[in-house]
Amino acid sequence: MASYKIVYLSKKEIESMCINSLDIMQWVETAFKEKYFKTVEIPPKPGIHPSNGTFIHAMPAFIQKFDAVGIKWIAGSALNPLKNLPYLTGLIILNDPETGLPISIMDAAWITAKRTAAVSAISAKYLARKDSETISIIGCGVQGRSHLEFLSLVLKNLKKVSVFDIVFERVLEFENFVQKNFGLEVRKSSSPGEAVQGSDIIVTATPILKNPKPVGRIEWVKNGGLIVPLEFDSYWLPETFSKVDKIYTDDIEQLKYYQTLGHFPSIKKVDGELCELIVGRIEGRVDDKEKIMALNLGLAISDIIVAKKIYEKALAKNLGLSLEYNM
Ligand SMILES: NC(=O)c1ccc[n+]([C@@H]2O[C@H](COP(=O)([O-])OP(=O)(O)OC[C@H]3O[C@@H](n4cnc5c(N)ncnc54)[C@H](O)[C@@H]3O)[C@@H](O)[C@H]2O)c1
Repeated sequence: MASYKIVYLSKKEIESMCINSLDIMQWVETAFKEKYFKTVEIPPKPGIHPSNGTFIHAMPAFIQKFDAVGIKWIAGSALNPLKNLPYLTGLIILNDPETGLPISIMDAAWITAKRTAAVSAISAKYLARKDSETISIIGCGVQGRSHLEFLSLVLKNLKKVSVFDIVFERVLEFENFVQKNFGLEVRKSSSPGEAVQGSDIIVTATPILKNPKPVGRIEWVKNGGLIVPLEFDSYWLPETFSKVDKIYTDDIEQLKYYQTLGHFPSIKKVDGELCELIVGRIEGRVDDKEKIMALNLGLAISDIIVAKKIYEKALAKNLGLSLEYNM
């Protein structure tokens, strides 16, 4: 019986590789360029819902230029934080493009945190005011932290971060994180409306809920503000999605698919896709007054490109646990 080795990379091992965030952003941007030229395959992600408030999505992708082939199997559970578990957990499997054989299994949580923030930061390059100084983070968890990290790489005038979370302890942890890693002023707010007021960029990173009670209001957002919602339509009131001056997404087909499932009923038109902004096919922000939304629902191309690069680096450094695979 033939056998060969699969490389397993844990979250700890991936973290220990100290992957450069600017590299991640560049890999992700390249994957989106490939999407524009239609040299990628990203079928709509199927999902299952094994218990109330829990989803598991299968996210396959192929990026031809990089021979990057794989699937992310990612779960989100609203109850996990109560059990002291992360909201999102999962694995990525990479495959050989020719034989289809699995070549690596790795943690998906770290990659998800970084690639999501990288996509938002790339969006901000085209859609935020160039002179943006303030950012609001609503939901001070994993994505809140990675978003501050990546957005600060593209917004060079950033001075202040305004934060809100329903769990005050999360706000204090976030403040500590900002003070340790960034020279930014932190404003702790007692309500989301207060946190958003006057901000150039607003990231909402709260859970996706089965029966959401949205609270976010377009009136909170100043002229020239960029809204980056990560939780589909769980946080912002439905009219927000139609009252912004412009709305961009990572994949219009995917957005339409979610509309067939009942999400985003008020969105009648989208101004374009992120890949079109990246290749210069369409314009993003044209003046300092527009209220814009970057509604990126998550694409597997950004996971699989980052996973492939991590796999190559791990091979070069002889990292990871070798698992035997028999045929
Ligand atoms: N679009 C994408 O590609 C993508 C990718 C990854 C994650 N996400 C989404 O990002 C969101 C955040 O994920 P995470 O891993 O950071 O979760 P997390 O559990 O680490 O953080 C969520 C935070 O939100 C806080 N919170 C909950 N309800 C709130 C409310 N009503 N107001 C303010 N704060 C509230 C929680 O206390 C927690 O601190 C999730 O909805 C997740 O599905 C989207």
